[in-house]
Amino acid sequence: MTATQPDLGTWVGKGIDRVEGPHKVTGTAPYASDVTLPGMLHAVVVTSTIAAGSIVKIDSSALLTLPGVRAVFTHENFPRLNTPTQVLFGEAPVVPMQDARIAFHGQEVALVVADTPQEATEAARLLEITYAAEPPLLDPAGQRRETLPSSPDTSRGDTDAGWAAADVRVGATYRTPENTNNPLGLMGCVAVWDGDHLEIHDSTQGTIALRTILAGMFGVPESGVRVRVPYLGGGFGAGLNQWPYKILAAGAARELGVPVKLMLTRPQMFRLVGHRPNSEHQVRLGAARDGGLTMIEHRATSLSSMDFPAVGLLTSGTPHLYDCANVATVERTVRLNRRYPTSMRAPGEAEGNWAVETAMDELAHELGMDPLDLRLRNLATERDPATGKPWSSNAVIECCRVGAELFGWSRRDPRPASTREGDLLIGQGMAACGFFAYMPMSQARVTIYADGTAAVRSAATDIGTGTYTIITQVAADLLGLHPQQVDFQLGDSDMPASAHSGGSGLASSLSNAVIDAVSHLRGELLALAGPDSPLHGLAPDDVVCRDGALCRRDDPSAREPIADLLAGSGLVELAADGRLRPPEGAARDMVHAAAYGARFVEVAIDPMIGRLRVRRVVTVTDGGRILNKKLARSQILGATVGGIGQALFEDTLTDPGTGRVANGTFGDYLVAVNADVPDVEVAFVGEPDRYTPSGTKGIGEIGLVGVAAAIGNAVFHATGRRARDLPITVDQLM
Ligand code: MOS
Repeated sequence: MTATQPDLGTWVGKGIDRVEGPHKVTGTAPYASDVTLPGMLHAVVVTSTIAAGSIVKIDSSALLTLPGVRAVFTHENFPRLNTPTQVLFGEAPVVPMQDARIAFHGQEVALVVADTPQEATEAARLLEITYAAEPPLLDPAGQRRETLPSSPDTSRGDTDAGWAAADVRVGATYRTPENTNNPLGLMGCVAVWDGDHLEIHDSTQGTIALRTILAGMFGVPESGVRVRVPYLGGGFGAGLNQWPYKILAAGAARELGVPVKLMLTRPQMFRLVGHRPNSEHQVRLGAARDGGLTMIEHRATSLSSMDFPAVGLLTSGTPHLYDCANVATVERTVRLNRRYPTSMRAPGEAEGNWAVETAMDELAHELGMDPLDLRLRNLATERDPATGKPWSSNAVIECCRVGAELFGWSRRDPRPASTREGDLLIGQGMAACGFFAYMPMSQARVTIYADGTAAVRSAATDIGTGTYTIITQVAADLLGLHPQQVDFQLGDSDMPASAHSGGSGLASSLSNAVIDAVSHLRGELLALAGPDSPLHGLAPDDVVCRDGALCRRDDPSAREPIADLLAGSGLVELAADGRLRPPEGAARDMVHAAAYGARFVEVAIDPMIGRLRVRRVVTVTDGGRILNKKLARSQILGATVGGIGQALFEDTLTDPGTGRVANGTFGDYLVAVNADVPDVEVAFVGEPDRYTPSGTKGIGEIGLVGVAAAIGNAVFHATGRRARDLPITVDQLM
């Protein structure tokens, strides 16, 4: 049986402040945009103004006479690079400016390098490009479309039989729009070469992935590429791919022999670093009169670009949440002349949950059953219904029950359009959700010093979610130190390789790597204990680190000061490496459950003007062991704001004639702001997860999932009108 790590609990769980907070609020935390190097030039990307076709002519000679302009790169003179074969996170990098072909409106076609950003920007504006345009493929229902499978089809039982056997059936089509990842920090980089050695300061969510890709593209050893990301201003998934901008900057820096800085503008963030693609879902549900599901069918389609794989994951949660014998999922992606899609917070699963949890609400209404009772009747809590294997943990029922209690769900009048306050229509809705496990490999090195302090090093990134702090807490507990005695250094690809900050997997992956490293470190320290030591002959799990000493776990009076152990061997420090280990014991036969949740929402709608206000949110999450309750709450709060934006505002529009982004600025692209967000009540339930020693499950993305469906279901309860297309806008409410 895998025991969860017993040494966590002194600092782990506490809501301590962010350890890097003072650096951030005093402006001393270095972001890529802050990096300035001697002799550094500034690069600006020029993007295409057609969506399909090719470049006939770019005359950059006139630009080279402008003040400050040092170079203009196009497909004609940008270096030919290798196409890396390695695909990370399922998304292959694109090598930019290798030929004249144009595959989407806004594609990188030139790079202007100048002494200042202003000079580069002005010159970029003046560059004249002649295109041979072709009719772009922009209609997802058009004749010439190419479709690809984007998640494996799944099937269990017989959905036709389940449909025939049902007493009550619902079926509808649900749509979600394109959403753009808009981290506060504009993405960008500074690249500098020293011979065949490249150093790049960037905004990536994955230092090692970027190292691998740059080494492959430029044909240099991975050991010679160093990626530095001590801080980045958010990501939401836009930092998971290694976008062309950084390849352009690295290429220009190599050609020119000087450091090159390239910062994207906000409008370029809408074009060059991905987005959550549009999706469409056909969902059919059948149930017996008692509410037991007899079938679930989920067919989904998303959009992609010509050269990029699909993001997928639209249907990946569907087979697992509900205990139903007959389930089928099918998912396709349509290639169009559109910008690259990418992961965006709970990619795919957030959209799939919107469709299925809205359909569940429709089913509850048709059954005359409380939507909460329909969930409780069907949620799969013991075993994964797709594999029949036990979950490593699953408190989704508790999420629903605790949320209903906090919200006061039992006082809800189930009849739609039944609750009024003056002229306002009041509605209450809920949704259940899961965000399934993803835990890529991480490694970490733990070093203990003679002065009693320790350092943890890993090439991980902290996208603002709290990695610095939670890993400091984990290490403090394992080493018996105060967090101030632990220095966690990250964001440098020269440190032990780490997973990216993605798929909500890093907290689990890295905390388990640190647990493994400290176990090895205890072994190393034990090896220093002489034959007369009270610790002689013990195994790493028989001892713990407490108050600067290595102690017997079952008798802490048997101890050796760590400083004495080091000094006795002439050491001033001792380091050990660790990595995420496969599950052991009973956990091997379990399905690693990630997080679950239940969302409860109240809306108030003024039907005269179609104004919708989210008035209350109760959000309950099963995240396994919570490493820092303050930061965990912040994660869920932020994700709830994102969910409100997804439900009501966010909608990146593409002009159907030209393929151009029609609203790619914060003036035109609406996000939820303070006035749109009510007080949000955040609660956590559940136990430490059994799959890994840290007992953690990812909570970076689950907070968004379910919010949109709960809001849409509240809108139905308020008005009796069913919203099936996001965002839910005024015209749907009047
Ligand atoms: Mo998240 S979409 O894995 O940054």
